[in-house]
Amino acid sequence: MDTGADAGRGAGARHERAAAPAAGAGAARAYDVVLFGATGFVGELTAEYLAAHAPAECRWALAGRNRAGLTALRERLAARWPHCAELPLVVADAADPGSLRELARSARVVATTVGPYVWYGDGLVGACAEAGTDYVDLTGEAEFVDLTYVRHDARARETGARIVHACGFDSVPHDLGVYFTVQQLPADVPLRVDGFVRAGAQFSGGTFASALTAFGRGREILRAAHERRLHEPRLVGRRARAPLGGPRFSRETGTWALPLPTLDPQVVARSAAAIDRYGPDFRYRHYASVKTLPMALGGTAAIGAGVTAAQLPPVRAWLMERYQAGQGPSAERRARSWFSVRFVGEGGGRRVFTEVSGGDPGYDETAKMLAESALSLAFDPLPKTSGQVTTAAAMGDALIDRLRAAGIRFRVAHRG
Ligand SMILES: NC(=O)c1ccc[n+]([C@@H]2O[C@H](COP(=O)([O-])OP(=O)(O)OC[C@H]3O[C@@H](n4cnc5c(N)ncnc54)[C@H](OP(=O)(O)O)[C@@H]3O)[C@@H](O)[C@H]2O)c1
Repeated sequence: MDTGADAGRGAGARHERAAAPAAGAGAARAYDVVLFGATGFVGELTAEYLAAHAPAECRWALAGRNRAGLTALRERLAARWPHCAELPLVVADAADPGSLRELARSARVVATTVGPYVWYGDGLVGACAEAGTDYVDLTGEAEFVDLTYVRHDARARETGARIVHACGFDSVPHDLGVYFTVQQLPADVPLRVDGFVRAGAQFSGGTFASALTAFGRGREILRAAHERRLHEPRLVGRRARAPLGGPRFSRETGTWALPLPTLDPQVVARSAAAIDRYGPDFRYRHYASVKTLPMALGGTAAIGAGVTAAQLPPVRAWLMERYQAGQGPSAERRARSWFSVRFVGEGGGRRVFTEVSGGDPGYDETAKMLAESALSLAFDPLPKTSGQVTTAAAMGDALIDRLRAAGIRFRVAHRG
């Protein structure tokens, strides 16, 4: 199985941004950034991050389906950051296309935490593609990313909208970590990179709902990937692949490596297809890194049990009820959480070991990554891209600089 297959044209990152964006795009917009889903668990953390870190000139707004919830959130923010007392509120519902059109037309960048995205996300992507509005989200759902590619990529290219999925722990540390690793290796030669993920953390109701939803949609995921392959032009003259590796003991990290068929390796392969610096023949393999064999076997069994349970609707419904939307780990638990992704890159006779690491991956760092991605699209001088683009292709160095300044570490551990 090949998680990314040969990546297609690579999200169009080398394509010029359209010269004539849709009517109303750009400076005429009321807001630089609108945060949709602000009342959810990660939504509120992202709002707090923007309250603390958005530059003074940033015109931003809170959006959601429930005005009372937005008002209460604004009061909580204003108690800590008085300048938030007048934050604009935008009411929109994922089930109301008119409200999504207005939301997309009001902003230069929309950041959304409204998931599971395969249920709630498509309308907003379509509205942003139509309005020429840049878009960032937290999806880790391959089916959703493939469907929005098929439905909205072409229109987004026409209007100049940058549709950047997976701006949280899925897939920022992996996509930018590989981008960073590639830059430590020689140019114009075949490159091989392996990534090894470790984390100590808990998840929220929203993440649990998204994961269970994806586990129960195997057929739909395959169908969406097939549709995408039919639409996406092949990459010509270069190769960019993310095959699923086998389980193995990794001498490089001294841990057991279990293949991770998440969205991340697909995103990495799309970045490699979009960016010439990844070389003529690029291969990435993505692993979970586990210290002992019993832990590796236990982890595999637990994931297998989760996937099996998710096939049975009553079990899925029972599990969903146990983890309510809007709930997640406490601030104390998050403060003890961490992640580390180690990369081993090889090519042209050189070898490099790099690492991306930080605090609580699913929530504090995810909120930071989403907010900084939105600010980067709004304010940084970036390569000209449009359509569905990855974080590396759309923002690359600018986002690494932002995340480093915000405390996420990107480092070369050693060269071999
Ligand atoms: N990429 C990553 O690493 C990562 C990490 C964490 C989370 N996530 C993903 O991010 C998403 C949010 O997670 P979470 O824990 O914050 O979930 P959550 O607390 O359940 O929040 C979901 C948000 O969606 C809103 N919503 C639901 N239906 C809506 C509709 N019809 N119209 C408008 N808004 C609607 C909710 O509004 P109300 O407040 O009004 O109910 C809430 O604001 C999930 O899909 C999760 O998988 C990804």
